[in-house]
Amino acid sequence: MGFSASLRITSLALASLMLPPSGAKAAQDAQLVQQGRLLAQSLCADCHTFGGQTRSDAPPPDFARIGAMPSTTALSLHVFLKSPHRNMPDLILETGQIDALTAFILELGHK
Ligand code: HEC
Repeated sequence: MGFSASLRITSLALASLMLPPSGAKAAQDAQLVQQGRLLAQSLCADCHTFGGQTRSDAPPPDFARIGAMPSTTALSLHVFLKSPHRNMPDLILETGQIDALTAFILELGHK
């Protein structure tokens, strides 16, 4: 009895892992955004802010403002982040990092 009960529990657990496709995609996006947030905090926060702040001293643009610009798209961010930008020529990102940072910046811009 113990054996078949634990089998049933196992298959229930497996069934609950099979989310509908839309749920799985949303969960994946949220994970990517979170990954981008962590990367941005460690790689970009020296210069950029994320919360729509403005600083007086000719600052690098805030990520929420970048994300909200009409010209900002996943493609424009990918292109931008693949080339070194002014004041940060040594910043070399892997494709996975670019994907995550792009997701984070677009999320901040509500796209
Ligand atoms: C050493 C300071 C510095 C760091 C670190 C830095 N940036 Fe920048 N960033 C700037 C400056 C200055 C600008 C504005 C001038 C320019 O476009 O080159 C800028 C502009 C940008 C823009 C362009 C906005 C536009 O006008 O299209 C994006 C996107 C961006 N940064 C993303 C990032 C990301 C992502 C990181 C971290 C992986 C990062 N930056 C790290 C200084 C920095």
